[in-house]
Parts: sequence; structure tokens; C-alpha cells
Amino acid sequence: MIYEGKAITVKEIEGGIAQLNFDLQGESVNKFNRLTIEELGAATDAIKAQNNLKGLVVTSSKDSFIVGADITEFTDLFAGPEEDLVANNLKANEVFNAVEDLPFPTVTAINGIALGGGFEMCLATDYRVMAPKAKVGLPEVKLGIFPGFGGTVRLSRLVGVDNAVEWICGGTENRADAALKIGAVDAVVEADKLVEAAVAIIDQCNEGKLDNQARREEKKGKIKLNAMESMMAFEISKAFVGGKAGKNYPAPVEAIKTMQKHASMTRDKAIEVEAKGFAKMAKTNVAACLVGLFLNDQALKKKASAWEKEASDVKLAAVLGAGIMGGGVAYQSALKGTPILMKDIAQEGIDLGLKEAKGLLTKRVSKGKMKADKMADVLNSITPTLNYGDFKNVDLVVEAVVENPKVKDIVLRETEDQVREDAILTSNTSTISINLLAKNLKRPENFCGMHFFNPVHMMPLVEVIRGEKTSDRAIATTVAYAKAMGKTPIVVNDCPGFLVNRVLFPYFGGFAGLVRDGADFQKVDKVMEKFGWPMGPAYLLDVVGMDTAKHANEVMAEGFPDRMKDENKSSIDVMFENNRYGQKNDFGFYKYELDRKGKKKKVVDEETYKLIEPVVQGQKDFDEEEIIARMMIPLCLETVRCLEDGIVEAPADADMGLIFGIGFPPFRGGALRYIDDMGVDKFVELADKYADLGPLYHPTEKLREMAKTGKKFFG
Ligand SMILES: NC(=O)c1ccc[n+]([C@@H]2O[C@H](COP(=O)([O-])OP(=O)(O)OC[C@H]3O[C@@H](n4cnc5c(N)ncnc54)[C@H](O)[C@@H]3O)[C@@H](O)[C@H]2O)c1
Repeated sequence: MIYEGKAITVKEIEGGIAQLNFDLQGESVNKFNRLTIEELGAATDAIKAQNNLKGLVVTSSKDSFIVGADITEFTDLFAGPEEDLVANNLKANEVFNAVEDLPFPTVTAINGIALGGGFEMCLATDYRVMAPKAKVGLPEVKLGIFPGFGGTVRLSRLVGVDNAVEWICGGTENRADAALKIGAVDAVVEADKLVEAAVAIIDQCNEGKLDNQARREEKKGKIKLNAMESMMAFEISKAFVGGKAGKNYPAPVEAIKTMQKHASMTRDKAIEVEAKGFAKMAKTNVAACLVGLFLNDQALKKKASAWEKEASDVKLAAVLGAGIMGGGVAYQSALKGTPILMKDIAQEGIDLGLKEAKGLLTKRVSKGKMKADKMADVLNSITPTLNYGDFKNVDLVVEAVVENPKVKDIVLRETEDQVREDAILTSNTSTISINLLAKNLKRPENFCGMHFFNPVHMMPLVEVIRGEKTSDRAIATTVAYAKAMGKTPIVVNDCPGFLVNRVLFPYFGGFAGLVRDGADFQKVDKVMEKFGWPMGPAYLLDVVGMDTAKHANEVMAEGFPDRMKDENKSSIDVMFENNRYGQKNDFGFYKYELDRKGKKKKVVDEETYKLIEPVVQGQKDFDEEEIIARMMIPLCLETVRCLEDGIVEAPADADMGLIFGIGFPPFRGGALRYIDDMGVDKFVELADKYADLGPLYHPTEKLREMAKTGKKFFG
């Protein structure tokens, strides 16, 4: 044994060739935490101290190679001064450089996922061989940073600027064939032949058939472009990437600027430039938010996994109602491998549900995402029915009939008599209390909410709503089924609007207030889109549908009359009264026309301004700051209330719910992180400035207390 640590071991395998193996103890995957980097340094020293070695193969004994840096270390690390971050990267890079400079040929055997720091490790060796199922890439931009262990330096020299820009700025995970094509790896061989292939490469180098020194020098040298080519490559990509990423995500363009800066430098100087650029990005609030988002997502996944352990199997599901939502649920369940019965009372309903599923599947096939025979399998696992025939075999039911408490009550009770006693019953209601729907059930412990979002196949979130009598088994089984469908479940307690709609409607309240006081709804949309929302509030209302919004608003007003009841007619009411339901009938705040590709496009409709005139009372021209404040304060405060009322268990649940459920700008981390970032005291101060607008803008006592004591939601 040449070296033995807790993450790395090095031994001689054959004929003077050493094997450096990553196997982080006590973890299911390898990652580059502090310990691993330290050990890599020590292991490399130990290798150098041997004087009989002729080559090195780098391997992993986990299923993955190395999944990346240990992101749990980022929050503390990034909080330090920028100089410390630069120094930290330079120190880590000494280790990677030492690997690159070993006095014999080196090859990495990439058996599984090698991302971020994991792939940068691969780049440090002379050659790379890769298993067909492995994936490589540098996804750092997804965290608001870019590669900092030499990735921008080595990859740009190895595969050229254009390819490096594509991989680094896109943050893509790349398959073996793609990696081979651009020269990011040198061979693709079956996983069990990787070491053999690596050894063969080393032998060829030592026999003079391959020139590993030349390769190494290329990787350590300047980028081979003349001034003109370099200008073209970098300037064009900066404009293109910048346009795509948008101003809110600076890391991709900074990565290009960094590569441009170090293009004419050799390795050691180039690494310094990279370290400085990396530190600059790591200090941005975007990076802090995106890292926080990643950690929140991990926390959420952990919770879901814990529930999964208590879940009963769902081998067969059923959905009641084959409408927009029911059809979507059936498709998603079947697609992800849980057969499902789809019951409706009308043949037309069933036809519509099946048509929807078929349409989505056909699209997948035409995009090459699915083979035609698989499509038939998926369709066959949806069993349409007009009666309860097979319901004795069903493990979980999703009720998605019309949004009417009386109809749902009848349907749920009827279903309860048809299924086994242990079957779980759920409702996809968006507004009806789960406790109310449970009232007349014989087994309320087996009942909970399972709230999908429209369109089901696209929207990642499922709210799992716990009623007073819901059992842990019902929650666990519903969480597990949502996960099996590829969704992110968040468990919330019952209240009007649950989490997502409860928070969304105060935001619409903010919008209605702005329009009432004279704001141009188009400007509000533009400002909020610039702020980071995928669509502004007027456009979102058109997508949700004015009838749905009005109905939900009434439910919210009844549930929280103190702050959500508004006696005055709003622009949303006006749209509804004029049958302007939004996208569904082509008229809402905007009107919708087909573009040349046959896609619905929103266009301005002057008629809207005339219609809302009677409800507009002010004439103020609002600036951006005020629009943002008036939109965001009600949303943030309602999120705070959801946390204080125990609707969600933790700040992470609330923030992730908003990001996955309504497209809250991810780079801002969520509503509670937004308050944290502003400073709780500053946020309270801002809200107080708008106190006249009513209780939607009044902070809770607890939040005031937090402001006084300097407490935050995160960390
Ligand atoms: N559309 C959305 O954006 C959305 C989003 C989240 C949740 N939801 C909720 O999902 C549920 C369904 O909404 P939708 O938009 O799919 O409605 P929809 O009108 O498109 O579909 C309802 C279907 O239920 C069928 N149905 C009615 N009574 C039935 C019964 N007794 N047994 C079986 N089927 C019956 C109807 O024939 C129809 O096909 C509602 O509770 C709604 O609030 C809707």
C-alpha cells in the first residue's frame, strides 16, 4: 500500500503502475470535501516519493466516480473574505497541479458520474477513459459560480473554446459519446474493462507509441487561437450566452470573461485568473441563494425519503375525473411506471383524457425521447373506465372531479365503499378544505390532499395536505407515490389555499391594488419579469384563468377575511364579468392570437384599459422599486404566516414550494430567503412604509421580534 486514507487509497496494481482509488468512507458517493482534497495532496506526495512507478490509474469504487464538490461546505466557505476564497482555490489547485505534473503517464477511469470537481480531477490526468453509462460535466453555473479547480483552464485547452463555453456555461451533464466526440475523453469502454484500457494507454505511452508529454503541455499551455480568432470566439459567445442567461445569472458570462483573460497565459498564471473570477462569483448573492436552494432541495429529498420508508406499496392507482388534471395524472403515473385506472362519468371525459395522454406521448416519440413500442406500453397501462369494476385492486386514488364540495363529497364516499379498507384516498382539490372533505368519510385516517399543478407533466410540485385525522401512513404513501411519479412532494397542513395558493393570492392582491392606484398592468408585468418571475402577474392570471382565480380568491377571502376580503371591485373581477377568462378563451388582461408556428401568443388589447377604467382610482406612475415592494410584501408576509401557523414545517419547505409551485425566481432562493437577504429589520421597515394599504402589508408580531433580535430564517 502506497497510501491509505479515509477517502483515498493508493496501491501498486501491476508492473509499476499505481492505482489511486476514491472511496469516501461512510458515504454513498465520492465528493470533494476538504478531507478528500487534503488526502489527494498527501496521496500525490506519497506517489512522488516512490521511485519505481511508471504510471497512474485513477479510479473510484463507488457507482459514481466523483459527484462534485461538497456543497454543504460552500455556505461557510463563501461567507469568508474574497481573498481567502482566492487563497483557498489556489491551495486546492496546487494539489491538482501536482497530479498533472507526476513524472509518468496518468489516466482516469471514469466509471460513473464525474461532475464539477469530480470532472476537474479527470481533467488533471493526461488521458481519460469513460464507461458508456457515465456522465461528465461542469455544472457549477447552476450554483451561481463556475469551475474553480482548473476546469476553465484545462477544458478550454483540451476541447477548444467553443466546446468549453458550451459545457461550462450550459452546465450540462454530457454522455460518453458526446464527450468522446469533442475530445473531452479519449476512449469509451465497458465499465469492467476501464482499468485494463487505462493500463494499455500507459503502456503505449511508455513504449513511445503515445506522447503523453505533448498532451500535457497542450493542456498547460496557452489557448491556440490568434488574436482575431480569440476575439471572435469570446465576444460572440459572451453576447449569446449573456442573452440566454439574463442579467440575473452572471456566472456564465463571467466564466467566458475568465477564459478570455487567461487564454494567453500558461497554466499557473491562468489558474490565478480563474481563482479570482471564481471568488468574485462565490461572493454574489445569486451564488448564496442558489447554494441555499440546492441545500433546501437536499433537505426536502431527505424528508421525502424518510416518509418513503413508512409508505405502503402503490402497485395500482386510480384517478377519478379524466379532465385536464385527471388526464395529466393518468399520463404521468403511467409514464413513470405505476398503472392507473382512469374513471369518469362521461365517455367524452375519457376520450379527452386519453387524447391528452396520447398527444403528450406522441410528442415524446417525435422528439426521440421515447420509442414507439414504449408508447404503446404506457398507453396500455392507463385503463379507462366508467365504473368501479377494478377498484378493489387499487392502492391509492386521486380524486380530480369538478371543484365542487358537494360533488366531491359524494364521489369520495362512493369510492370509499368500492376500495379496500387499506387503500389511500386523496383529493386534488385546489381550494376545498381537506378536513371538510374528510368529514363524511368512514376512514378519514386514509385520506389526504394530493395537489398537483397544471400542467401536471411539467410542474414539479405536489402539495401533500394533511388533515386533522390523516394518518402518517396515508401521508407516507402519498409522498412515495408523488416521488414515483417524478414529482417533488411537500407535506403541508390543511388551511385555505394550502401553501402555494395561500401565498399566491395575496400577491394577486398586491397586483389588484397597484392597478387600482393607477399602475399600468403591462408595466407591472415587465418589472416583475425583470425581477425574475417567469411571467408577470397579469399574464399569470391569464394562464391560471380568471374564473379559477376569482373562485379561489373568494375561498381565500372567506378563510382570511381580515386581510384578503376586499369589498371593492378589482380589475380581476372586471375581467371575469366580461368573460375575459384568460388564455382559455383567448381574452384576459391580454388577448391571445396564434403566431406563425401556430402557438398562442399574447398581444396587447386596448380594450382592457377601457374595461378597467371604472376601477382605476389613482393616476400614479409607479417606479420599479415601489412596484416590487407592493407585489412582494404581501407574498412574503403570507409565507411568514404559513410558517408561523405550522402550515409548513420549515423555511426550506416554504421556499421550495414557491420555487417549484409558482416559479418564484430561483436565484432569489424563495420568499423567506428574500426577507433574510434584505434583512428582517429592513423588510419590516419597508412593510411599515406601506401599512396604509391594509393588513396584507402588516408584519406579524413574531417577525417584528425577529427584526429586533436580529434573527433570520436561515442560518
Ligand atoms: N385546472 C387546474 O389548473 C387545476 C390545478 C390544480 C388542481 N385542480 C383541481 O383538479 C380538479 C379537477 O380539475 P380539472 O381542471 O381537471 O377539471 P375538468 O373540468 O377538466 O375535469 C373534471 C372531470 O371530472 C369528471 N367528473 C365529474 N364528476 C365525476 C364523477 N362523479 N366521477 C368521475 N368523474 C367525474 C368530468 O366529466 C370531467 O371530465 C378540481 O378539483 C380542480 O380544482 C385544477
